Amino acid sequence: MKGATNPQSFDQIVREIFSPIYPVIAEQIVYKTRITSGRCLDVGCGTGALGIAVAKITNMHVTFFDQSEEMLGFSERYAALNDLDNRSAFIQGDVHTIPIPDEDFHLIISRGSSPFWDDWHKAYSEIVRVLKPGGIAYIGGGFGNAQLRENIVKTMSENNPNWRNSFKDKIKPERDALPGILRSLPILHFNIIDDESGFWAVITK
Ligand SMILES: C[S@@+](CC[C@H](N)C(=O)[O-])C[C@H]1O[C@@H](n2cnc3c(N)ncnc32)[C@H](O)[C@@H]1O
Repeated sequence: MKGATNPQSFDQIVREIFSPIYPVIAEQIVYKTRITSGRCLDVGCGTGALGIAVAKITNMHVTFFDQSEEMLGFSERYAALNDLDNRSAFIQGDVHTIPIPDEDFHLIISRGSSPFWDDWHKAYSEIVRVLKPGGIAYIGGGFGNAQLRENIVKTMSENNPNWRNSFKDKIKPERDALPGILRSLPILHFNIIDDESGFWAVITK
């Protein structure tokens, strides 16, 4: 495991600093994918903020998936607070061996988790395996737009002046490897978004 995220402090950061980004990213995902119904999987969901934001603007059922029991506990609590009990499920596991049958999801989303994965080829293969034919995976990281990113970098850098740079170092190896990995997988096509919204692989099976 490439470093772990502390659930308590991450929850605080999401609530106090990151919270405005999730509705913006959810809108971008729905705009780009046009998927508004069926089943969605949020991989490395953390406290569930992105999956919840997607559920709020669609009719999707969202499965929250994370290796951390404690993170899943937060996502379960927040999903309930957002009245999503009937449209949510919670599964603990590792993205390298997702404990879910093949071709189960119309949409797979993941934000800020992939830099922590040990083996991107295995992880992306698993994501493609559980995606339905015609389904789309939207995997990456970012802060929504330039203004939100600027505000967050400013706030996070107050406590850790090297925050932005250490973060860039963390994501570079995956960015370099990703096109080769995606070309080797059984998908229809992929598109890399690298703009003010962040860095995202949009993968159509
Ligand atoms: C930085 S947090 C991002 C959380 C959330 N997606 C967000 O944007 O707020 C990364 C999350 O990925 C999860 N994670 C890391 N490696 C994982 C793996 N191999 N399988 C499943 N989840 C993983 C961590 O437990 C953590 O909750």
